[in-house]
Amino acid sequence: MQTVRQIKQLRKAVAAFRARGGTVALVPTMGALHAGHMALIAEARKRADHVVASIFVNPKQFGPNEDLAAYPRRAAKDAAMLVEGGCDLLWLPEVETMYPEGFATSIAVSGLTADLDGAARPGHFDGVATVVAKLFNQVRPDIAVFGEKDYQQLAVIRRMVRDLDLGIEIVGVATQRDEDGLALSSRNAYLDDAQRAAARALPRALGDAATAIGAGEDAANAITRAWSALEKAGFGPIDYIELRDAETLMPVDDVTRPARLLAAARIGGTRLIDNLPIEPRPA
Ligand code: PAJ
Repeated sequence: MQTVRQIKQLRKAVAAFRARGGTVALVPTMGALHAGHMALIAEARKRADHVVASIFVNPKQFGPNEDLAAYPRRAAKDAAMLVEGGCDLLWLPEVETMYPEGFATSIAVSGLTADLDGAARPGHFDGVATVVAKLFNQVRPDIAVFGEKDYQQLAVIRRMVRDLDLGIEIVGVATQRDEDGLALSSRNAYLDDAQRAAARALPRALGDAATAIGAGEDAANAITRAWSALEKAGFGPIDYIELRDAETLMPVDDVTRPARLLAAARIGGTRLIDNLPIEPRPA
């Protein structure tokens, strides 16, 4: 695997892939890689001839009181995992390369970003959309692979690609989980043993509520129960537990089309998110 840090080198490496023929897939990440990221690499390998991963801890998507400085950075270990996973090229830009002096452009996807994580993290999705648009333009892949773990992010990127005619196929990969159900996340490293043990309440509460709603129970009741279960396990504050349309992310009361149950909650200062699908019952 080749590692490149300058746009010129990146373009040259991607041009060499193109010259050999075949398709190029991009997997954008912020590093601190785990099996969730590696599932995206595996999917990219299945779908394209050449796989590019990017690692860039994007300052524009962190709020002033968020964990930009503390965010885990371990490029050497990440590179070894990418080699193991069969990645062909690692794009590892510096902040100055991504946002040179005078950088003034921002991409805002309205509507979809107004609430859920958009409300809890003002400016976050503008930062995500801007950096992902840049990564797309830098690499110019045929496809790009993202995790359903960050479900609202996936919806925002799909919308941006459609709205701006970017012509890149966006592939979503199911959330990869630890044995106890907790979604893998670089932020799980912030949890101490007791918090890590308590954190399993998040997928459990969501799973119970999703099953109940899928079986026809009133969504508000099921969500209230999940909320109490999280509080009992030591989560707080809880930002949201919401039933939404799987595509538009608009609020829904019942499941007549594919829906998604989404949650964000803090445990001991660490903010965890998760979501599950709920399919309509056959008529
Ligand atoms: P990061 O949090 O590093 O995640 C990179 C990709 O891995 C995202 O598409 C995310 O949804 C996916 N991912 C994370 N945990 C996962 C899990 N447990 N199962 C499946 N996929 C998982 O998301 C970002 O970085 C950034 O916002 C980025 C898109 C790179 C833009 O800066």
